[in-house]
Amino acid sequence: MTDKKIMLTGFRPTGRLHLGHLHGNIMNMLKYQEQYENYFFLVDWHALSTEYQNPQNIKNNLIECAIDLIAMGIDPEITHLYRQSDIVEIPELTLYLSMITPLSWLERCPTYKEQVKELKAKDLSTLGFLSYPILMAADILIINADFVPVGEDQLPHLEMTREIVRRFNGFYGQYFKEPKELLSKATRVIGTDGKKMSKSYGNAIFLSDDFETIKTKIRQMITDPARIHVSDPGHPDVCNVFSFYKLYYQNEDITDVENRCKNGKIGCIKCKDEISKVICDSLKDFQKKRKILENDMNYVYKVLEDGKNYVRSVSLKTIREVREKIGID
Ligand code: TRP
Repeated sequence: MTDKKIMLTGFRPTGRLHLGHLHGNIMNMLKYQEQYENYFFLVDWHALSTEYQNPQNIKNNLIECAIDLIAMGIDPEITHLYRQSDIVEIPELTLYLSMITPLSWLERCPTYKEQVKELKAKDLSTLGFLSYPILMAADILIINADFVPVGEDQLPHLEMTREIVRRFNGFYGQYFKEPKELLSKATRVIGTDGKKMSKSYGNAIFLSDDFETIKTKIRQMITDPARIHVSDPGHPDVCNVFSFYKLYYQNEDITDVENRCKNGKIGCIKCKDEISKVICDSLKDFQKKRKILENDMNYVYKVLEDGKNYVRSVSLKTIREVREKIGID
């Protein structure tokens, strides 16, 4: 046991991770890792709430994700890394919370309304999808987490978690604490087509891509459309490739590329290859470690197993106390 505050976050198992995940979320996790006691889990049940018609990739995606996370520096010695579906106490808590959660809270949840409208191809008129925020509340409350690092889109869910806590404590006596968000300053990473980087858009640069692949992907990117000859002055502010420089270069280095472009001193192809190399070099250690893990899958499974055992012991304790609080035990 430590007296560190508890940080917990869930991650959708989308398969191999890309630069969007790295700069959006994982960097933040790594930053906090030493400061808190960390719970980091892969939410395969949440994935099932939208993928229930095609669940066959969830398991494999989860393992790929776990390998990437460990290779990137999520340290199983200080972070409990686990699978949501291994913690069978979560659905029991979900059940208790669902007893006290008014339907209207779920129906008015902005993420729910938005996704039902947007993901037209999927039939999301299910109880499982409607109760997504209750499952998320149970994820958080089973551990009694203090802090939850999330992006802005997840704030309504966290607010609902706090509302559920107040209602639970009101009915059964003070028990859960209200978790607070750690808002990650979301770094929006664009994909090779200029849209938000996402596996489903087919525009992602994966952490495990090799140099040739990264180079080819970046070569396809649109730069400043007004620039035809190398000597034409470029406009980095409208150039998609420049957004990667902003992620990887600091201060003088970035001013230097900016000036070379604006003064027509560097061509787009050279500029693209330069940043491809920088991205690739930054991933070298990760890729080496990933290879080692791929050849030592028993270690990866063991990490998840250890995570499960530890987190289940915490969860069981919560469930016992919750049963007592409600008075059914
Ligand atoms: N809903 C979150 C997302 O889509 C994932 C998630 C599930 C989560 N359970 C959680 C995040 C608990 C933080 C805490 O990104």
